[in-house]
Amino acid sequence: RCNFRQAPETLILSPNKGQQVPHHMLEEIESQPLILSALVDRYFTDRTFPSPLLAKLSGICSINLVASGSSYHAALIASYWFESLAGLKTQVDIASEYRYRDIRPDNKELLIAISQSGETTDTVEAVRHAQAAGHPYCLALCNAPHSTLVSISDFTLLTHSGTELSVSSTKSFTAQLLVLFQLAVKIGQIRNHLGSERIAACHAEMQSLGAKVHATLEHSKELRRWAGQLHNYENLFVIGRHAMYPVALEGAFKFKEVAYQYATGFAAGELKHGPITLINANLPVIACLPWNQHAERMLSNLHEIRANQGELFVLCDGALASSDKFSVIRLPAGLLELAPICYIAALQLLAYHCAVLRGNTIDSHRLLSKAQTRD
Ligand code: G6P
Repeated sequence: RCNFRQAPETLILSPNKGQQVPHHMLEEIESQPLILSALVDRYFTDRTFPSPLLAKLSGICSINLVASGSSYHAALIASYWFESLAGLKTQVDIASEYRYRDIRPDNKELLIAISQSGETTDTVEAVRHAQAAGHPYCLALCNAPHSTLVSISDFTLLTHSGTELSVSSTKSFTAQLLVLFQLAVKIGQIRNHLGSERIAACHAEMQSLGAKVHATLEHSKELRRWAGQLHNYENLFVIGRHAMYPVALEGAFKFKEVAYQYATGFAAGELKHGPITLINANLPVIACLPWNQHAERMLSNLHEIRANQGELFVLCDGALASSDKFSVIRLPAGLLELAPICYIAALQLLAYHCAVLRGNTIDSHRLLSKAQTRD
């Protein structure tokens, strides 16, 4: 049922492998190792960090992130970094909610608005709402240097992921994450929250990221095999713990956006509070299982799912082998903080393969637009 709708002459050249690929989404997924490698260090040293922003960062006491869609999920993942690496109280808001709330901005709070396009009405209006309420400063994290969001913000960090043509965010999402990570480390350094060893470890993680994402994408054939089963279901769960929870939300979002399957992202620990009742042989579960301090609890969640006949597809960077209980794809080991980027790259590719097998248009949908300017 593989259905590449574009004619062969419209195939796109993949930057990594020099091969032709059938959709912009695939080309954009495959371009991530190069884009991420080029972004390493961009905002890491003082020399490359915008100095007016640097001056402000030492005085902040909390962070509030606002964004929409995938950018909102990037904000959620980054909130774990702002808490652990920068040592800051962090709040994340969906822009379409924040803009109608009775907010009380703190004068030591940094508002960070994230948007690939910089034109999403909800996000732009959320910033205007904050400014009208007296918010002291807003930092835009944006891929479009001449956008409305950049023009109304006090500071900007550009995400440098190049033009993204597929309606679904892939490379712009992981670029947002890497810039947010660098910002969190920079704030942690300025506030003396991070010692030099931890900073060096963060730097080493960044330097290996491009290769690890490349190795993740090398699992395309196995992911396609999973998709051979998964594309037949109308409903599925994606689960994770800690920073893998927003990864699960973003993974589920990809399935909705391109595969038109009803995927729900859950914090694995929440299953027992209700959703476990839905688990059965007709509801496959995709699990993100990094081999870290949360792995043991996650494994007990997986056993509970199996006990209820749930079909399990596990992305894991540790020593877990496929068995009659789990189907496992081994992602590259060695990343701690940045592991979400590899897991999301795998989920992007999995959703892409499901979308292709379902015969969907991949790069566009009549109800979606790249920059949503509807209210
Ligand atoms: C649209 C797209 C989503 C995107 C969201 C936010 O709704 O369909 O894929 O995540 O806008 O876009 P932004 O440009 O603000 O990041």
